[in-house]
Amino acid sequence: MFRLPVALWALYALLLVVVVSGRPAHLAKQVSHFDLNVTESLGAPDCHERVIRYVNGVYPAPAITVNTGDRLRVTIRNRLESESISIHFHGVKQTGTPWSDGTSHISQNAIPPGKDMTLEFHVRDQAGTFLYHAHNAMQELSIFGALIVQDQKEDRKHFKYDGERTLVLSDYWHNSSIAQEQGLLGTPFKWIGDPQSILTNGITQFANCSTSGKLSPKAPNGGYAVTTVEKGKTYRFRIINAATLGFFRFDIPGHKMTVIEADGTLVEPRAIDHLEINAGQRYSVLITASSPSDKDYWMSTQAMWRPKSAPNGWSILRYSNSSKESTAPAHGIPPTSLPPKGPEISGWMDRHLVPLHKVRIPAPTGPTMQLNFSQINTGPVGANTVRWKIGRQSYVLPNQAMLLQHYNGTIKDMDPASKPIYVHKNRVVDILLQARVGTLNGVCEQHPFHLHGHSFWDLGGGNGTWNPTMRPDTKHAVIRDTLTVYPSPSAYFETPQPEGTGCGWRRLRFVADNPGAWMLHCHIVAHLVMGMATTFLVAPNDIPPLPANFPDWMTGGIH
Ligand code: C2O
Ligand code: CU
Repeated sequence: MFRLPVALWALYALLLVVVVSGRPAHLAKQVSHFDLNVTESLGAPDCHERVIRYVNGVYPAPAITVNTGDRLRVTIRNRLESESISIHFHGVKQTGTPWSDGTSHISQNAIPPGKDMTLEFHVRDQAGTFLYHAHNAMQELSIFGALIVQDQKEDRKHFKYDGERTLVLSDYWHNSSIAQEQGLLGTPFKWIGDPQSILTNGITQFANCSTSGKLSPKAPNGGYAVTTVEKGKTYRFRIINAATLGFFRFDIPGHKMTVIEADGTLVEPRAIDHLEINAGQRYSVLITASSPSDKDYWMSTQAMWRPKSAPNGWSILRYSNSSKESTAPAHGIPPTSLPPKGPEISGWMDRHLVPLHKVRIPAPTGPTMQLNFSQINTGPVGANTVRWKIGRQSYVLPNQAMLLQHYNGTIKDMDPASKPIYVHKNRVVDILLQARVGTLNGVCEQHPFHLHGHSFWDLGGGNGTWNPTMRPDTKHAVIRDTLTVYPSPSAYFETPQPEGTGCGWRRLRFVADNPGAWMLHCHIVAHLVMGMATTFLVAPNDIPPLPANFPDWMTGGIH
């Protein structure tokens, strides 16, 4: 974890009493109060200095740990200079509290600088590894932290382990997200490029640390996150991908990984050689510390499905005699090269996993909703203005949050590019996500799709164009909240294809049992900003009334 300089931290501590604490395991089903104080100042998580966002003085945001069944009350204090924010609890269904989803423009209006907001919700019938992150335009993953929902009784019934460790993986650019957004939405379109760094628990060392002119005096050598283990013990590693772009391959040399959880669903234990995890996804793996303990093991994270990866996604697995996790970064010298990636194979992880508890998958109760997506050129002829279209159009965020427009009765007057898809209560919805080659470069990309307010069955996918003879894969139908549409047949390393060519597809199924306004979107933040989203208004007549005093900052706020 990367910390604010001591002086700033002391000043900050004087100003506010911080409350971030989990409840002891035996006190389930109670209110846990969390205070998230969001600030910004210069930091250098990879030794290159820029303004970054801290929550309660640390980067990334502190882990929140609760028990399944708990009620959370989270107060978010926006102490940024000029940006409005909201905080989303990714994967938490928000059953009965659609206004607490923390999604700007959809479930609420963003919190202006200087203002506070309290979200209340229950974590019902859910347990496992989650994350929380900002959810306002390009700032999305500039604030991120782990959210761990314990269900010790259930977990210990199936698995044996002595301790837990959390690894939050993320990607990091040296320019600001504002500059990135201007490039993406501008004419001519300018892509954000690959990240300079891949961070583990918020730190790494940038390749040119020692030569970089912008070297920060605060973190002259950057550093590598250290995860300590005791010889002979077994650990549950909770691995969270909080990247804005990266589909990661994660390796631990000298140790076997056994997957037991995917996005809050327990799976039959499966030994894997390496982990593949997309942006917004989480896995738990069991690791036994049974290798020689006199040396460090370099864990690595690298991007897949892109032309190249930042080479510095390293962190250290270290044997120690103390059961306490040390958080001080290390400054060793990592291996000179990442483990060889081998060929990228669509769905390698997905095809390994089988849910631990078999649940009956209901049949769809309506026609399949096919959502085609591709890049489009929206500018005047010859000008290069690029957006992602999904379904009928490229999504445009409404100025007034959609849920608030539902209460005000103005949804019917919304711009067609912002309008939701209406879904009846308890409809079993099948969505077929179909990628197509767009206008940009003839290349297919991977897309991590995330649904708010519901989990879904990932019913598998395939290459090219879907056709009705392709049946859902129910054997590997793990309930999750983020899945991958794999790029095939024309990923970056293959021959570009003509516009319109099928680029891979995937099917998901969900039961629309949570009345509210919910987003389905690509978790690559650049794609989301370019319109790769759609929204559902689920059972509008059953949306519960808005709590009194719910803030509406539309007219005073900054968007
Ligand atoms: Cu993790 Cu809509 O986001
Ligand atoms: Cu995408």
